[in-house]
Amino acid sequence: MSHVQFEYTSPRLEGEVIVPGDKSISHRSIIFGSISHGITKISNFLDGEDCHRTIDAFREMGVQIEKEGSSVLVHGNGLEGLKKPAGAFDFGNSGTTTRLMLGLLSGLPFETKIFGDASLTKRPMDRVVTPLREMGAAIHGQEDGKYLPITVHGGALKGITYRLPVKSAQVKSAVLLAGLVAEGETVVQEDTETRNHTEVMLQAFGADLKQKKEGIVVTNKGKLTACDVEVPGDISSAAFFLAAGAIVPGSTVTLKNVGLNASRTGILDVVKQMGAAITVSNERTTGGEKIGDLTIKYTALKGTTVEGEVIPRLIDEIPILALLATQAEGKTVIKDAEELKVKETDRIEAVCQNLTTLGANITPTEDGMIIEGPTRLTGGTISSYMDHRIAMMGVIAALVSESPVKMDEKDSINISYPTFFDDLEAILQ
Ligand code: S3P
Repeated sequence: MSHVQFEYTSPRLEGEVIVPGDKSISHRSIIFGSISHGITKISNFLDGEDCHRTIDAFREMGVQIEKEGSSVLVHGNGLEGLKKPAGAFDFGNSGTTTRLMLGLLSGLPFETKIFGDASLTKRPMDRVVTPLREMGAAIHGQEDGKYLPITVHGGALKGITYRLPVKSAQVKSAVLLAGLVAEGETVVQEDTETRNHTEVMLQAFGADLKQKKEGIVVTNKGKLTACDVEVPGDISSAAFFLAAGAIVPGSTVTLKNVGLNASRTGILDVVKQMGAAITVSNERTTGGEKIGDLTIKYTALKGTTVEGEVIPRLIDEIPILALLATQAEGKTVIKDAEELKVKETDRIEAVCQNLTTLGANITPTEDGMIIEGPTRLTGGTISSYMDHRIAMMGVIAALVSESPVKMDEKDSINISYPTFFDDLEAILQ
């Protein structure tokens, strides 16, 4: 197999990056726009492969979705306007599309079939299938619905009270989406807060959803009405340049219009705790979501412990955080992050394997990893594991490696950050 090589001699990063739209919010804007009445205009939509899976799904169910300049227009005709698709849905690599759509499709009056790529086929779906079955959904799939391919025989649902057994916004969202059509109240309870974009956006579209003492409560009583959405920049994408700015000597990087919803800013809390010099400016709120600019300057970092409630608030940033920790003085311990094993790949294994190859001192644990720093990385040959965030970590690692980093592919980056290399190039001095 031919490898791609990344080599940066004495790099320094300086300048501004406008990071692309948030992946989670982009998916939700298509879903809620498609099931509401009227035209939803979405600006700064993430043009990545995962979000296109969600667009394709609704087009296949008869929703007109088009580009207008840099915006996306969704012509929603309500839930009742959705039609049975001609064929099976191919959700590719997208866990968010699959889990959220399972919730929605469970309550629609027709049968649908879902499959995905090799990675998605290995990811657990029982976490959504179990509560949806409790609501009355008829779902059949591999190993009793644990894995794709899955067939959903949509129909009448009833509300349930569900306490999340896993810290997962996708599970929460699937149950809330099913709750939009279910008879009676659907209540979701979570011990640790996960990203709340579904709740924020459903309220903006007019759903009957309230945060109450007993949990998040939704009914089928709200009438969903189209609503313009400005998608904030994705903090999970920004994190790669935030980390790069923090560890590449002499750097100063500003990341513009980054989403700063408190359920997503764990990475900022942790890097500040490690001593990073970050400032936040131009804070504002759009559609219930906080946005601002982040400026990071290179400075010496120290190790820390990352555990407990912060984990869901930075779960997608752990690969790049691990790289950052290799450059920090002392020990960094990451715990309570067993969810990493069921991401696009087993990210505990992928991160530890790759960073070990590159010369880091890192040890995998059952629920995270331990990193001893600082180590000057050597470079070497690694794999992206076909996982966009592992691939981007590999490229950023090359900025602090003595010799080139070679990787088996880089195209997986298009899943969440198609302009990653252009943005890197623009700030590379
Ligand atoms: C997401 C939730 C998280 C995250 C994923 C996107 C979402 O997954 O890792 O990238 O949009 O709800 P889990 O819900 O599985 O933790």
